[in-house]
Amino acid sequence: MQNPTPISLADTPFMRACGLKKNTSLPIWLMRQAGRYMAEYQKVRRAVGFKKLCTSPALAAEVTVTAAKRLGVDAAIIFSDILLIAETMGLPLTYQEKIGPVFSKKVVSSADVKKLRRPDIESDMPYLAESIRQVRTQLPSIPLIGFCGAPFTMASYMIEGRGSKNYIATKRLMHSEPQVWDSLMKLLANSLADLLNAQIAAGCQAVQIFDSWAGALTAQEYQTYVLPYTQSLIQKINKKAPLINFGSFSLETLPLQKKSGGQVLSIDWRVDISKAAKIAGSKMGIQGNLDPVLLFSKPKVFLPQVKKILDQMGRRPGFIFNLGHGILPETPVDHVITLVDFVHDYTT
Ligand code: CP3
Repeated sequence: MQNPTPISLADTPFMRACGLKKNTSLPIWLMRQAGRYMAEYQKVRRAVGFKKLCTSPALAAEVTVTAAKRLGVDAAIIFSDILLIAETMGLPLTYQEKIGPVFSKKVVSSADVKKLRRPDIESDMPYLAESIRQVRTQLPSIPLIGFCGAPFTMASYMIEGRGSKNYIATKRLMHSEPQVWDSLMKLLANSLADLLNAQIAAGCQAVQIFDSWAGALTAQEYQTYVLPYTQSLIQKINKKAPLINFGSFSLETLPLQKKSGGQVLSIDWRVDISKAAKIAGSKMGIQGNLDPVLLFSKPKVFLPQVKKILDQMGRRPGFIFNLGHGILPETPVDHVITLVDFVHDYTT
């Protein structure tokens, strides 16, 4: 039913790192590597809206492939967005200039959760598998990463209706109505597992979950209200594709991120990566964690910071260089290319 990973891709630096195998060349890719900071992306985006871009396989594939080739990275990530699945679950979604993503309906009550549905990924998001197939044809030499939001980050968007600073509605629901929270998080864990497995079936070699907002929680909150659901999501994922677990966790909550599962722990830029590596232990890979804001400075300023990460992590089997969060719009592309070349030239 599913194609095994071709031998050639299993032996790429990125896949070897996911499998904790020694590498002679360090793998690097960058979260949000396809986006507004790149002129090629802006050109496509001027002609179509963001949602149209995500749901048009030829365009989504083009943007994915162009970014990976221009940067010379070791993995591509399929062009999509973590919030698209929420629309198929019942929450109409728009992307607005300056504000970002906005849901016109929010999840407030038990009745709202009951109205949500577990999507059928193949029929509700048919463009996704097709985008993946087109990337696989156009870019056969490097692995392709599929992704989804983690249950907490998804729940927060669905409850707040948009980006948030204090997560007031999310935490109120979580603490005051634990049963409603439980049914929402269970539905998300199942739906998101379907989404990742569909991407693996369509041709992705690895998957990543984004818990971008996990940093809003105490260890106690994460443990009680989030960990069981992220764990259940991760346990459902087809084991042939390694899973990278990314989130804005602190040094204190990192052991819980590890406990939630996956083959590679992807570290927030605020965390000391050598301390994180000790917590991850020898059975998990590490991905990270340059501060994306450093890329706005000149190479002579950010490269010493890159070197510091490489000196600490470069020889560790299972290390994947990345940022500690997504690339920001306006980042100079030549700085990003300098970063990729520098990591590749560094010899272990
Ligand atoms: O290149 C890649 O990494 C693949 C594509 C990708 C996008 N979003 C494209 C995108 C990925 C992996 C995401 C993940 C995502 N989306 C996250 C988790 C990662 C993170 O940065 O924390 C989150 C929280 C979202 C939700 C989202 N989508 C927001 C908050 C926004 C608006 C703010 C922003 O960064 O622009 C989006 C829109 C979005 N998703 C854009 C892109 C390229 C910009 C859309 C545009 O062209 O205007």
